[in-house]
Amino acid sequence: MNTIIAPSLLAANFANLQSEVNMLNQSEAEWIHFDVMDGVFVPNISFGFPVLEAVKKYATKVLDVHLMIQEPGRYVEQFRAAGAGNITVHYEACPHLHRTVQQIKDSGAKAGVALNPHTPVQVLSEIIQDLDLVLIMSVNPGFGGQKFIQRTFQKVQEAKELIRESGSKALIEIDGGVNQQNSVALIEQGANVLVAGNFVFSSPEPLKTIAALKNSVNV
Ligand code: DX5
Ligand code: ZN
Repeated sequence: MNTIIAPSLLAANFANLQSEVNMLNQSEAEWIHFDVMDGVFVPNISFGFPVLEAVKKYATKVLDVHLMIQEPGRYVEQFRAAGAGNITVHYEACPHLHRTVQQIKDSGAKAGVALNPHTPVQVLSEIIQDLDLVLIMSVNPGFGGQKFIQRTFQKVQEAKELIRESGSKALIEIDGGVNQQNSVALIEQGANVLVAGNFVFSSPEPLKTIAALKNSVNV
């Protein structure tokens, strides 16, 4: 399967968001990753509905919304209405995860569940068949530009195995510290979607970096 690249807007220049979105529209990225942080579930605050609506006006790519917020079920319909194509919630933030996942599917969005680095993949065994996406955090959520946690490779294999055994069609998405040093191995282990923030936006030529990331992982 062709690897999906999802540049994270968290690392974009917010004062020039429209031109950043235009650049991504012209790139080989299929999704735009949109990190929502509430200052409660994670120790940082990013952006929410008004920014998503503004991005949606210009983006021609799928908006891949990653909710790092406590009890995200409260806001699913609003994120869908603001333009989310995929909505991913954290296992650790949802006391009623099954209900929240059904809410996402009922909204018409694709449903994802994210796992913090300390959360084992096996916690998804009872819900994996309902998921479109499993997002494995390869850093602790809250900030861009952190160092990739090596143990992630093992978790990708475990997720792949769980998906295979259950017959689920979920894609495996990796988020945090992704670059060309780890992308090839991630894909070899079974990752389908790579999120990349700083690696893309801090590079001198983001379009080329996105292309390189995509091509490096499809060989
Ligand atoms: C971290 C966010 C990531 C972040 C990735 O909490 O979920 O999506 O933007 O940024 P990099 O690729 O710079 O680690
Ligand atoms: Zn993210």
